Amino acid sequence: MPLTAVVLAAGLGTRMRSPVAKVLHPLLGRPMVRWIVDALQAQGADVVVVVHHHEEQVRGALADAGVRFARQTAPRGTGDALLAALPELPDGGPVLVTAGDTPLLRAESVGRLLGQHHGPATVAAFEARDPTGYGRVVEGVGIVEEAACTPRQREIRLVNSGFYVFDAAYLRRKLPALEPHPPKGEYWLTDLVDARAKVVAGFGEEEFLGVNDRAALAEARDILSRRINRAWAAQGVEFDSLEHALVEVGVRLEPGARVGYGTAIRGESRVAGDLGENCVVVDSIVEAGATVRAGSVCEGAVVRAGAVVGPLARLRPGARVEAGAHVGNFCEVKNATLHPGAKVNHLSYVGDASIGAGTNVGAGAITCNYDGVQKHRTEVGAGVFIGTNVSLVAPVTVGDGAIVGAGTVVGQDVPADAIAVGRPELKIHPGRAEKLRARKRAAKG
Ligand code: UD1
Ligand code: CA
Repeated sequence: MPLTAVVLAAGLGTRMRSPVAKVLHPLLGRPMVRWIVDALQAQGADVVVVVHHHEEQVRGALADAGVRFARQTAPRGTGDALLAALPELPDGGPVLVTAGDTPLLRAESVGRLLGQHHGPATVAAFEARDPTGYGRVVEGVGIVEEAACTPRQREIRLVNSGFYVFDAAYLRRKLPALEPHPPKGEYWLTDLVDARAKVVAGFGEEEFLGVNDRAALAEARDILSRRINRAWAAQGVEFDSLEHALVEVGVRLEPGARVGYGTAIRGESRVAGDLGENCVVVDSIVEAGATVRAGSVCEGAVVRAGAVVGPLARLRPGARVEAGAHVGNFCEVKNATLHPGAKVNHLSYVGDASIGAGTNVGAGAITCNYDGVQKHRTEVGAGVFIGTNVSLVAPVTVGDGAIVGAGTVVGQDVPADAIAVGRPELKIHPGRAEKLRARKRAAKG
């Protein structure tokens, strides 16, 4: 029998104090609601998402998720939300129902509740350290919302997780008959969980953390991050700290990769190499045997085996650091290839360029790639020596084996094996330093 799951995601999320829909806040590269959809789909469920507030954005964010949508005309409570999904539900069989703001729900728990389901309604319950705000599980009664609890019932710590399995035929019969609760006239889904419902306790509180504000969002991020890091560590990835590393869900790591303390890996990155402390790697490839040292930022870059980047280097989109090439501290590389063994070790900018194999680029050398209107390319051949503080004014080419002297402004092509030096004349006035100082002191008074 096909399994249907409903995610209630029509609420506003006022406490987030955010212009973004609550369920769309990103958690490690995936919107919050997508985590729940994925957990449900992992158990083979056909997912229906109930929307109202920020409807277009929620539909957009789930456009490729293979879900159906139901529209609540006004958010009149969780019972009304599920009623809105009724036309999308089968006539019989189990229907999973969960909130859109509990992203820590795991696929295993979905399977567990389903396996225990029996009768008209089954609810996942847990012991809350602080039950405030939750519906209480009252024996012989069902779920009693906090607003309706007697002082005695308020003491109960076994609470409703908001995650249920219902029999579809039961929903068809009961949902349209729900009565509104004063003073707000809300329809409570929990009214369907009465004394006959099966309560499955023993779920972990952490899994049902409701993300209602940004503090809870950060808490959820920490928990998910630890889960992801643990799973990679089990696959043979070395972490300096499971706590202080952030690996987004779209990232792929290889056994033997290392993730340094404080490092974040985002987007579609693939890492098999060694990342030092406090690096940021976005949509980049770091091959096995490559090293990215502390404090470096790689975005849309490729770092091949044997290459060394950093510390404190910045690779921007289109940077390719080939085998054995080096990019050192305070260097920026953009849309440029450093061929095997090329070295750019100190304080350089290399943009829109190709640096040939084995070429050495001296400290402070810069490609002047932008003329104020357009970008131009710099082509430097193999085995070239570029001296300190050279300006390569693009478009320009330096042939294989050439030597460019320190401080030279290269405004025209340099042929292979040539020496190019251009320096302003240096004037030396022996013994004049003290005279100059005396004059300046006198002027100062
Ligand atoms: C609900 C339960 C409570 C349970 C708690 C668990 C009810 C009446 N109470 O309370 O027993 O302990 O969850 O976290 O169900 N939503 C809609 N449309 C609406 C109202 C809500 O789609 O009209 C969605 C929200 O976006 C949210 C979910 O339903 O994702 C739960 O709503 P919320 O208002 O957060 O319910 P709680 O007060 O937390
Ligand atoms: Ca809630």
